[in-house]
Amino acid sequence: MTRYLITGGAGFIGSHLTDALIARGDAVRVLDDLSTGRRENLPAGAELVVGDVADPAAVRAAMDGMDGCFHLAAIASVARASSDWLGTNRANLVGAITVFDAARAARTPVVYASSAAVYGDCPIQPIVETAPTRPRSAYGADKLACELHAAVATGVHGVPTVGLRFFNVFGPRQDAASPYSGVISIFAGRLRRGEPVDVFGDGAQTRDFVYVADVVAALVAAMTRLPDGSPVFNVCTGSPTSVRDLAHHIAALCGQAATLRSRPPRDGDIRHSVGAPAAARAALGLAPPLALPDGLTRVLDWLATTR
Ligand SMILES: NC(=O)c1ccc[n+]([C@@H]2O[C@H](COP(=O)([O-])OP(=O)(O)OC[C@H]3O[C@@H](n4cnc5c(N)ncnc54)[C@H](O)[C@@H]3O)[C@@H](O)[C@H]2O)c1
Repeated sequence: MTRYLITGGAGFIGSHLTDALIARGDAVRVLDDLSTGRRENLPAGAELVVGDVADPAAVRAAMDGMDGCFHLAAIASVARASSDWLGTNRANLVGAITVFDAARAARTPVVYASSAAVYGDCPIQPIVETAPTRPRSAYGADKLACELHAAVATGVHGVPTVGLRFFNVFGPRQDAASPYSGVISIFAGRLRRGEPVDVFGDGAQTRDFVYVADVVAALVAAMTRLPDGSPVFNVCTGSPTSVRDLAHHIAALCGQAATLRSRPPRDGDIRHSVGAPAAARAALGLAPPLALPDGLTRVLDWLATTR
């Protein structure tokens, strides 16, 4: 039986990965401080260790005997990284280095979550992995630094690593407060009640919404294939969706007409963020992603069971 450690496994993406690995018969140990993750997200059979990913002893103990580590634990919030720069740095960068350091003993492979935030406001769309990285937040800067340390883990210490730059991941169990795709839960909640939705600026800003099952497939493929050289790949669809179009899609699925309420643009809002998926598809052998309306339907079905 293959044994995996998933840091942040009680969170949104991590719990879907835990489900998938347990379903195929792997053993899963989750290390999570439950700051945003929830015990109830975990399936029966997953082992939960409540602990801090920046605590070297806790991570060493959790890594012991594992065949691979998926490192997803982070404070996944640009706003938190701005208000608590040092605290988020500890979780987001020191946590990653702690994982890479613990992986040195047995050269345990590590597949870790990076982010489209490493690109900042990129003038080239869709964004290829070789585009300049100019993060505009402490969160993005820490994710970029994770990638640099991953290259050290591989190049100096022989730890296989693969980084995945997730774009806007969405799916069931996502917190409406998520800066990535929480907008989907917020829009869905309001549109189902026939209420107007707030759109910041002109609503023409675009995002690349990728369904959580496709992200899980990329994580699993990265661990299975472990391409050489500490590569990083976009995990995205390549399809731009404007915030306005998103509202209209959700409204249509709810059988409503969307009423959009214009709000002033938000400071620092990135105009366009759409990834190029070709490199990941080729290197990891990924199937085409789920179409946005199909993913949205699954979120709406889930929301209907939770409210
Ligand atoms: N959701 C997205 O669209 C998105 C996009 C880009 C990158 N990411 C990255 O993907 C990963 C997972 O994000 P998510 O959306 O599932 O967020 P999430 O908040 O649901 O999951 C993060 C998990 O990490 C745990 N955690 C936080 N600090 C910790 C610490 N110090 N020690 C141990 N556990 C800790 C939390 O309790 C939570 O369970 C993160 O690294 C995030 O930065 C997410």
